[in-house]
Formats: sequence, C-alpha cells, structure tokens
Amino acid sequence: MSDTKTQQILKGVILAGGLGTRLYPLTKVTSKHLLPVGNEPMVFHTIKKLKDAGITDILIVTNPDHIGAFVSVLGSGKEFGCEFTYRIQEDAKGIAHALALVEGFAAGENIVVMLGDNIFESSINHVVSDFQTQKTGARVLLKKVDDPERFGVANLNGNRIVSIEEKPIQPKTNYAVVGVYCYDSTVFDIIRTINPSARGEYEITSVNNIYIQQGKLEHSYLQGEWVDAGTFAALVKANNIVLNRKE
Ligand code: G1P
Repeated sequence: MSDTKTQQILKGVILAGGLGTRLYPLTKVTSKHLLPVGNEPMVFHTIKKLKDAGITDILIVTNPDHIGAFVSVLGSGKEFGCEFTYRIQEDAKGIAHALALVEGFAAGENIVVMLGDNIFESSINHVVSDFQTQKTGARVLLKKVDDPERFGVANLNGNRIVSIEEKPIQPKTNYAVVGVYCYDSTVFDIIRTINPSARGEYEITSVNNIYIQQGKLEHSYLQGEWVDAGTFAALVKANNIVLNRKE
C-alpha cells in the first residue's frame, strides 16, 4: 500500500537553455530541445518522464531566442495534463546558473530537475520515489558508460559517492552522473556559494560536491539506455532509443 500521506508534491524543472552549437545548422533557427526525436520534439520525452513520475507542476527554462517557440509548441501544459511555467535564461552560463532562476517557482519545495536533452529508455520513477523517502538533501542518478570523460563522473567508496569530477581527462570510474537531479530547498543557498569553472560555467557538479561535503548526496542507478543528445551521433542514438522502446 502506498504511503500517500507522507508523499510530498514535488515540482519539476526542465533545463532547456543552452545554444546547441554542436548541432549547428540544425539549431540555427530552433532550440536543440525542439528537434525531432522519434515522432515528437525532444522536450516532449522529458515532460513525459516527469509526468509518469507524478510531477505535473513544471517550470521550463529556456533562452530568449527560443521562448516563443517553446510556448507555441507546449502551451499551458493542458494537453499533457500538466501546468507549465516558463523562465528565460539570458546568458548561457551553465546548469547551476539556470537553476538559480527557479528559486521563486520552487517556493521552498523539493524539486526534480531534468536536462531537456537527456533521453532515457526507462522510467525515472524509482529515483523520484527514493528521493521521496529521503526527504532532504539531494539525489543523483548514475549510469555506467564507455565514455565517462564526456560527463560528470562519480568517484565511489563502497556505496557512497565521495566526489564528482566534471569531464575528467582520466576518469576514476565509469559511472556518469546523468541529467536528473533531485534537490531540497537548500540548493539555492548552495548555488550562491559556487564559482564558475575553467570553462566559465556555474557547474551542477560544483553544487553536487557541496551536498557530498555535507554528507547529503544519495544516488540511484539508471536501468536501460541513456543519451545526452548534444551531438549528431547522440541525436541519432536518441532517435534509436525512442523508436526501439517497447512502450
Ligand atoms: C552536463 C553536466 C554533466 C552531466 C551531463 C549529463 O554536461 O555538466 O555533469 O554528466 O550534463 O548529460 P553538459 O551537457 O553541459 O556537457
């Protein structure tokens, strides 16, 4: 029997800013997140993962050039059984920078953040329910990959993450941190303390490392295929994942 009394209502966040330069010229007039994946725009898949996990109050962060297209394609959320709110990220200064814009929407509630270019074969429901049990702190999702140097990589000691390195040249493990993050309301205070990385971005990895220092970062593992659809090859893989998925 599900313990509905202790279930909190989580709010969802989809980060869909970023310029998509590695997909140029496909992204010359539209957002990467609106490109087709299977028979739908990429961001539809992210919305459906959140909806499937019971999250319907969703904020979408995008950039000034594409906000109009997002609103035209997605509307109020009614068609999805969701309620959408939109925010504009004026400068592409990283994931944590985009997340800082979400503080008012979160209004002290816990949030589940998804990167709009991450495509999953399987559901994310187990991460969300694990986080519901945890209640405070943060939770990330790990996936064993062949090319960890492209991602945030978790260094593990037994069953604890002891640090995360962003795109390490010599990764210590094969466990990539995928683009689904669960945070309590302290995340915004943490973001205010971080500095930009060498690539000039406010990294989500810096935020997660502070949760680790506080002993408050938990993790789950992702089953099934996953892709960060930021390159041409990855976009093809995203299409294959969606088209081959047995719904
Ligand atoms: C971002 C994060 C990285 C994470 C990845 C997942 O990378 O910085 O830690 O592993 O998303 O897709 P980016 O897409 O900005 O290169």
